[in-house]
Amino acid sequence: MTTTATGSGTFKIGGDLEVTRLGFGAMRITGEGIWGPPSDHDTALAVLKRLPELGVDFIDTADSYGPFISEDLIAEALHPYDGIVVATKAGLTRTGPQEWHSVGRPEYLRSCLELSLRRLGVDTIDLWQLHRIDGQVERDEQFAVLAAAQKAGKVRHLGLSEVSVDEIKAAQEHFDVATVQNMFNLKDRGSEDVLDYCEEQGIGFIPWFPLQAGKLAEPGGPVAEIAKAHDATTSQVALAWLLQRSPVMLPIPGTGSVEHLEENVAAADLRLTDDEIAELDAAA
Ligand SMILES: NC(=O)c1ccc[n+]([C@@H]2O[C@H](COP(=O)([O-])OP(=O)(O)OC[C@H]3O[C@@H](n4cnc5c(N)ncnc54)[C@H](OP(=O)(O)O)[C@@H]3O)[C@@H](O)[C@H]2O)c1
Repeated sequence: MTTTATGSGTFKIGGDLEVTRLGFGAMRITGEGIWGPPSDHDTALAVLKRLPELGVDFIDTADSYGPFISEDLIAEALHPYDGIVVATKAGLTRTGPQEWHSVGRPEYLRSCLELSLRRLGVDTIDLWQLHRIDGQVERDEQFAVLAAAQKAGKVRHLGLSEVSVDEIKAAQEHFDVATVQNMFNLKDRGSEDVLDYCEEQGIGFIPWFPLQAGKLAEPGGPVAEIAKAHDATTSQVALAWLLQRSPVMLPIPGTGSVEHLEENVAAADLRLTDDEIAELDAAA
């Protein structure tokens, strides 16, 4: 029997939008360098269509993935979504493969929003995230665009990405911050203070690059040894560790392969012991 994501439990985004905690990141269903279409359109669609069958109902994307390709594929595979929450982002523009630039000018963000609504084929985006705060534009101007979009009913909840606790507090002057998406994994734990603040405030914390474990996952290393003890993979240990780290944790592992997707989802049922978690924490 295939394991579903249900064992990861649920979280209410913004206090009212319930999702299964183990989600999916849709950045990897585009072409090389997150640029252009995927090498195999049918495989990308198959990955997306497998999500509801596996109980995954939280998908993270961005207008800049492809650009546009990821949102287009999600709409093609899953519109009208039927209980699936699609979170997208705005605020990064693309000039080529692996090239990303912050643009937080209000008219640009408003344009991103209108085009995401059109591509996803919805009147309201479930969760709209500012991909980066643009350092060349007053942050309050950028936050004001998000607040206005919510007031206009074009987005239900608002989130931030790659932010400090101070930046979250500044945004909270403008709107309720429902989620924060920062890099966080077994190897990179630089956002512990942000995670603690999110937990205290009931803000969903979406760790990106969740599968990275670096040297810890090498043969003989603690992640590999713990994986062996559970007859699991190192990716599954990385995800189980995140899920057990905090009740507000919403990991979004990304893949372009149905096999990897199924493997990642199966982490929902993996429980690490207190000793194993202590060992992973000490190793970091
Ligand atoms: N807010 C931000 O600034 C930001 C930045 C980056 C990413 N994100 C979001 O976070 C999501 C996840 O981040 P990410 O894609 O960088 O990192 P990730 O999910 O930790 O890793 C994805 C990579 O791991 C591989 N992989 C996936 N499952 C695997 C498995 N079971 N075994 C072996 N390899 C596996 C994938 O390749 P295969 O396709 O071959 O499986 C891909 O190369 C993205 O999809 C995106 O939604 C946000």
